[in-house]
Amino acid sequence: MVELHPDIEKVVLSEDQIAEIVAGLGAQITRDYADKNPLVICVLKGAAIVTADLVRQIKTPITMDFMAVSSYGDGTTSSGVVRILKDLDTRIEGRHVIIVEDILDSGLTLSYLIRLLKSRNPASVAVAAFLVKDLEDRESAVSPHYVGAHVPNEFLVGYGLDYAERYRNLPYIGVLKPECYL
Ligand code: PRP
Ligand code: MN
Ligand code: MG
Repeated sequence: MVELHPDIEKVVLSEDQIAEIVAGLGAQITRDYADKNPLVICVLKGAAIVTADLVRQIKTPITMDFMAVSSYGDGTTSSGVVRILKDLDTRIEGRHVIIVEDILDSGLTLSYLIRLLKSRNPASVAVAAFLVKDLEDRESAVSPHYVGAHVPNEFLVGYGLDYAERYRNLPYIGVLKPECYL
């Protein structure tokens, strides 16, 4: 076990569990997208880590592109507005697109991105969400095609997920101690 960061209350997914989940997602995508040359879109910054791991588990040709959006800023609750900080470099018309996200929380980010990308006439749009928060009802209904794990409604950090830009480099997913954000 890695030594726990002092701000982390408990580990929700260990490094080994993450590796197993990502390998499984990669295997599914490999099967579903053989010969489709999908465009894998990493939603910066949170999805940077999972995307880097996931693409190496996809054993069929892909291309990659990056989009940067932000709705949380430095707070713990969504601002309700998705800001595009960087758009794609690639034209996606006729392409099979896979959006990779680190977490589906309120659904605002993904519903916004799906709507935006669909308006550019891709052949298909799928979502791979590494984590899906268990919420009673979600503001924006999004059903990801690929889900790594369902997680409790707690403040999670690590493996790309931040609080005020910190903790993204933790190799596991953990619950942040409340005193660190209150
Ligand atoms: C976080 C996370 C997802 C989104 C999920 O991004 O990485 O993109 O929020 O929340 P939602 O389902 O409620 O929209 P954030 O806006 O914090 O930007 P970041 O990826 O740069 O941390
Ligand atoms: Mn994000
Ligand atoms: Mg964030």
